[in-house]
Amino acid sequence: MKSFQIKTVMCSALFVVRIMFVAPLAATPHKTFAEPDSAYIFAYSPAKSNGRNGLHIAWSLEGKDWHTIGADHSFVRSDYSRWGQEKRMIDPYLFRANNGLWHCVWTLNERDGAFAHAASQNLIYWTRQSYPLVMEGGNCLMTAIVYDRSSDEHMVSWKNDRNGTNQSFYASTKDFRIYAPAKPFTGNNDAGLRQEVVVAGNTERGTVNKISWTEIDALIKAQQLADYRSIIWGESAATDRERFAGLKPVNATFTPDWANSKTITDMLIGAFFEDINYAADGGIYAELVQNRDFEYAPSDKEGRDPNWNSRKAWSIIGYDATFEIDSVQPVHPNNKHYAVLQISRVGAGLANEGWDGIALQAGEKYDFTVFARTLSGKNGKLMIRLTNADGKKLGEAFTKNISSEWKKYETILVAKETVSNARIEIIPQMVGSVALDMISLFPQKTFQGRKNGLRPDLAQAIADMKPRFVRFPGGCVAHGDGIENMYRWENTIGPLESRKPQRNVWGYHQTAGLGYYEYFLFCEDIGAEPVPIVPAGVPCQNSAHHGHPLGGQQGGIPMHEMDDYVQSILHLIEWANGDAKTVWGKKRAEAGHPAPFNLKYLGVGNEDLITDIFEERFTMIFHAVKAKYPEIEIIGTAGPFIKETTDYVEGWELANVLGIPLMDEHYYQSPGWYIHNQDYYDSYDRSKAKVYLGEYAAHLPGRPNNIETALAEALHLTALERNGDVVHMASYAPLLAKEKFTQWNPDLIYFNNTEVKPTVGYYVQQLFGQNAGDEYITGDVTLSGNREDVRKRVAVSFVRDSKNNDLIVKMVNLLPVAVHATVALQGVRFAGDEAVKTVLTGAPDDRNAKPETSTFTVSENISSDLPPYSFTVLRMKIR
Ligand code: AHR
Repeated sequence: MKSFQIKTVMCSALFVVRIMFVAPLAATPHKTFAEPDSAYIFAYSPAKSNGRNGLHIAWSLEGKDWHTIGADHSFVRSDYSRWGQEKRMIDPYLFRANNGLWHCVWTLNERDGAFAHAASQNLIYWTRQSYPLVMEGGNCLMTAIVYDRSSDEHMVSWKNDRNGTNQSFYASTKDFRIYAPAKPFTGNNDAGLRQEVVVAGNTERGTVNKISWTEIDALIKAQQLADYRSIIWGESAATDRERFAGLKPVNATFTPDWANSKTITDMLIGAFFEDINYAADGGIYAELVQNRDFEYAPSDKEGRDPNWNSRKAWSIIGYDATFEIDSVQPVHPNNKHYAVLQISRVGAGLANEGWDGIALQAGEKYDFTVFARTLSGKNGKLMIRLTNADGKKLGEAFTKNISSEWKKYETILVAKETVSNARIEIIPQMVGSVALDMISLFPQKTFQGRKNGLRPDLAQAIADMKPRFVRFPGGCVAHGDGIENMYRWENTIGPLESRKPQRNVWGYHQTAGLGYYEYFLFCEDIGAEPVPIVPAGVPCQNSAHHGHPLGGQQGGIPMHEMDDYVQSILHLIEWANGDAKTVWGKKRAEAGHPAPFNLKYLGVGNEDLITDIFEERFTMIFHAVKAKYPEIEIIGTAGPFIKETTDYVEGWELANVLGIPLMDEHYYQSPGWYIHNQDYYDSYDRSKAKVYLGEYAAHLPGRPNNIETALAEALHLTALERNGDVVHMASYAPLLAKEKFTQWNPDLIYFNNTEVKPTVGYYVQQLFGQNAGDEYITGDVTLSGNREDVRKRVAVSFVRDSKNNDLIVKMVNLLPVAVHATVALQGVRFAGDEAVKTVLTGAPDDRNAKPETSTFTVSENISSDLPPYSFTVLRMKIR
């Protein structure tokens, strides 16, 4: 037996954690203990959480008194099925194989014929999870593992109680990847394998193993580290008053070290566009008619909204008329539903409310289009009217006579007044029955005057960020909620009536009116590289079950369909880059763009679970694209979380094996995390894949976008610039959110039908985008005092924009006191005396601050007071 002593540690937070741990063993932290060689561990999922809180571990010297490791610490959680309530670990069974590797199997739910498996060397880091479908039509309860020495195989067993049976089964496996078909198991499959013990006053069911004390000690330390991290990462400005009580303004000198400079990316700031929060339909896509195609379906909202169906946003006006939905002989097979209006008295018609009303501007022209045909009665015109809430006419126009064949009719309306809540009325001028579909009203004033284009104010706000690239169509929208819901790019090009609308993963409807062609055009219009993200053959890792035998995310496109899927990705590249004589390039040319779009990047997958199913499909796509289009930079995915998490580790391992050039990382973290992780990329291997930080934002409780979150992001961006030789691109997410239609906060730009409301976080992105450089000059920082918490809240970044020969200094102050900064520029040769200074500052909870710009005279020692909680940018011409 060894002995050990509880050590006091310098950091007070860690000290608190230590005391909490030793309490069961000792009355005082100074006592010396005899360290055992081994002890018992009990692995369980707390009964009270019904499987929603992952694998917990308790330890005991004698197997009688059990001590939990952490108050509610989970060593691994299930990642199966929909986010939140559906991700469950029921009755985990922990088993150590002869080679020392731990295997854990657990029940996923009471419904599915699959169980979960994950393995670990140390119970701290867990490998990818798998969900073998062993009992289609049944379920897998009380899973257990037994080693069969005679066959050198493991038998995973379970009970099935679905379909009126109550029987045990097992499947043999050599590697926990491939399983033999299930066979009946005689008797009770887990008899004697599980135990019930009392942990923290609760009786729990789980497995007991004996392991070395060194291993237990490592588990305890891992949990302590997790606790410690959650304390320091949880630091926020709310406690700055105590943290920095008595702190005087800080003096700082920032000095560029010209001998220590490097070339960095000129692509850092980009825009992440996803149709979330009504960003596209009802948002930037300028269409004013909601549900123009009558394709809204109850399934868009999984049947939860009784008013959400193909009649949504439409109502009948006038008397003696009926409005039905039909699908016989539609305009296009991809657009099955249309309206049938039966009129007995002229004056009745259909009205559309738009999204929260239709915003009109006096004197502006609006293009009205409709597909129509008469089903009975005479041919006649349609009268189109714009009216306000009181029924006052704001515009009127007529189509030509409607014939009995589907045809597109067009007319132009001019708005008489500026209103935010108009509606549009379609009033046939004849009695009888008329079929109507694709009823559209588009302002002629769109961004860059594009037909089927974008709202100019929103598009301009994005353009003003000077994004070097635009990622689209997501996010989760890209890989979809289940295989059927994956975003298939080819369904979003061509005539609008032929595009395939579908359920939006965020619980509404996507018309695909804003499709790949429009995304590429927008990129071209704002000088940004298009970065399309295609699914890696697997849907969103948080997909719902949707009746699929493997739940949503665990399935992939069946392998026999993968060839076609890979072809469709190759077609995308040909569509974007092929000349107009190629099959797909011709489609682009026909749409109005004969010149290639010059696509350079292609994202494959979006923060997917890295499973065998994913890896197999990703690898196929990767090799096929690389073989045919070696010039395209493929972007791989490293999961939704930070370093040390399974998808991150496995995603990067795959990147190293395949030689993926760029890896997409995602993380939404607290301001404290950004403060304590400024060195996140400092140690990245520069010889491996470059990073595309595809989604990030600072999140506080309540999810505001305020000065505190914006400055945390600014701090991180200075660290990204410093690592601009490995971090190639970064995009804050999400970008747009329509007020009252928001599923996710915070976002960068909020809007309603008439206003655009950039956030403070937006201004940070804009200041970095407008002040990008391509050379990083290491900055030397000298601060008065030597407090680490002060040092971590002050950052500087020096970059040079070689095109304009501008030196740009970005300074972040996340302290509640001013920083009297001197920017020491001895030896710098200025071109002109005047330079520009922009400051964004406010109280931490300020959501409305705006940057203010002034000019100043350059000198060798520029004094710049950085106000408390501020971001300052200096820009000067040099020679
Ligand atoms: O940005 C919002 C969502 O966050 C994205 O759709 C998804 O990729 C991530 O989880």
